[in-house]
Parts: sequence; C-alpha cells; structure tokens
Amino acid sequence: MLVLGIESSCDDTAVAILNEQKEVYRSKIFSQAIIHKNFGGVVPEIAARKHLELFPYLIMNVLIESGLNIEEIDLVSVTKEPGLKNSLLVGLMYAKTIASLINKKFITINHLEGHMLSSNINNKCVKYPCLILLISGGHCEIIFAEKIGKYKVISRTMDDSIGELFDKVAKILNLGYPGGPIIEKYAKYGYINKIKVKNRTSKKMRNFSFSGVKTYIIQEINKFKRLKKESIFNICASVQNIAAEIINQKVIKLLILFSSKYNRSNQILISGGVASNSYIKKMVHKNVKALGYKLYFPTKELCTDNAVMIAYTGMKKISNNTYNNLNFDIKKR
Ligand code: KG4
Ligand code: ZN
Repeated sequence: MLVLGIESSCDDTAVAILNEQKEVYRSKIFSQAIIHKNFGGVVPEIAARKHLELFPYLIMNVLIESGLNIEEIDLVSVTKEPGLKNSLLVGLMYAKTIASLINKKFITINHLEGHMLSSNINNKCVKYPCLILLISGGHCEIIFAEKIGKYKVISRTMDDSIGELFDKVAKILNLGYPGGPIIEKYAKYGYINKIKVKNRTSKKMRNFSFSGVKTYIIQEINKFKRLKKESIFNICASVQNIAAEIINQKVIKLLILFSSKYNRSNQILISGGVASNSYIKKMVHKNVKALGYKLYFPTKELCTDNAVMIAYTGMKKISNNTYNNLNFDIKKR
C-alpha cells in the first residue's frame, strides 16, 4: 500500500509518501518558523495562506523523488485535529481533492495519535499495552495505550506544556523560535548548578505543571542587569535540567502506579517535538531502565511535526475500515 500523508495543523507544511511493503518513506517539510519569527509567534492566517501556497510544490516534489505517479497512491491520510482551523482546512481540502480525483480512500487522523504512533515507525518491536509520554509544544501527557486506537490519558499538564516552557524562556532571552532546539544547544555550554531552580511540583501530584518553574526562571532572568553569554548558557542548562527532572519524576511515579493498576508492560514510548531533546531522553532512559522498562522513541526527524506519522497512522487505521467519506469537515472549536 502507498499512503500519501498531509499535515498542516500549525506552522509546518508537511507531506510524505509511505510504502507499506518496502517499509520506507519519503518526507518533505517546510517549516514556516522563519516567517512567523518576526511576529513573536505563529500567525494563524499567514500559516493557512502559506500551506495553501506550498502544498502543490511539496506534493509534486515528493512524487517526483519517489518516482511515482499520483494515481499510484492507494490512500490519502490527513490531519483533522487539534490545530489551527484554517490551516487544518487547507490540508483537508487538498487531501479530499486528491482522493476524489484519483478515486481512492481518504482518512482523517488526530495529530496527537500521529505523534503517539511515531515511535513504531522505526521500532518494529513496540508492543501493546504500553505507556506513552507525549511531550510537544501544546501537550505534555502520559497515556496508557491498550492497543492502537484505545488510549487513556492518565496524566496531563495543568498549565503550560513543556514545549511552551522552552519557547517562552527562549523568547525572554531573545534566542528565537522554536526555543527547544536552541536551549538544548546552549545548555551544552552551561552549568546546571549556577542558577538553582527548584522543582515546585508536588511529588504526590500525578499531573504536570510547568508554570511555577517558568515564573521563577523569568524572575531570575529579570535580576540580571545585563545578560552575558555564560549566564544565558547557564539559564538554558538549568531550564533543560529542571524540565527533565519534572518529566522524570512523573514518569517514575506513573510507571510504579501503572504496574500495579494495569497489566504490567515493560515498554514506554516517548514522542513529540521535545522528545528530540537528547538530555531529557537520556535521563528518562536511565531511570526507566533501572525499573526494568524499555524506552522507544522516534528518530529526530519524526519527533517534531511531520507527515510520515500521519501516513503511518492512516495505514494502521485503514485496516479497521475506519476511513472517512468526502463529507468530512473540520470541527469548529
Ligand atoms: O511536536 P511539535 O513539533 O509540535 C506540536 O505538536 O506542538 O513540538 C514543538 C515543540 C516546540 O515547543 C519546540 O520548542 C519543542 O517542541 N522542541 C524541543 C526540541 N525540539 C523541538 N524542545 C526541547 N529540545 C529540543 N531539541
Ligand atoms: Zn505536533
């Protein structure tokens, strides 16, 4: 089966073709970050217009590079939610039009489920039930996945997501957007003990919280009259370290709780944009390994928004005959 994936939930315009038999994919992503950077965040109308403009080129490109004709596609898989309404609408319209023109099925996918299954693409030994740690720009959740399509959120953030923490700190430091990759890069040159940040979330709490830490760090930044490079590096190292500690604390708590509450599984998957952070992954890996769990994660390019995960999720779900008809529309929020 050949699946065309289309993703446009936020500011990444992404397409991919996944070849099920050969287990290979080709992916194209245009990150609009450079366009939205000047506005200090994503501007929904600009994002939607850019998707409209870019999709024809990206789709053409991915077909040419794959040596395929559009008629050879068996299934069109597109993101339906959550995300920016008009951006989602653009992706959906392209998907519907292509599916209708070539007379093939199309399926709509939840973006978060796409992230949740992204660990399976390069790790063929992922088994269910398992726990999934989803850490992205909009979400920070631990999900109990009984099987593909059957999920229960067992922990979520009560305020900011972990990605927002990175993005907001980077914004205050004038480092650019998205903040996560820049903070990870600068953290390598800094020391975690120069700026002490306490973990303010109670150990008893099952849910995440990042706003207390964010406020504390902003107050610390404001104490500086002039920020030298070394101080910026130290702030980045401290933010990354405290974020990793918070994640780790909840994962351990949930793993212990989980093993007694549900059938014991020895697998945990980590996905979403923040899962591309090596420091966080290393810390989680070390601790879950000590508890007898195996950690699986996607390749770096599949952690952040992409259309391969949308194509893959579509391919997995189509086998349950859960495809949509062309009357499907984006839900108003
Ligand atoms: O999954 P994603 O691409 O989009 C959402 O669905 O939200 O995640 C984007 C988030 C941003 O907040 C970005 O700063 C963060 O992922 N991120 C990182 C890294 N790469 C991206 N955070 C920490 N370290 C990274 N290397
Ligand atoms: Zn995402």
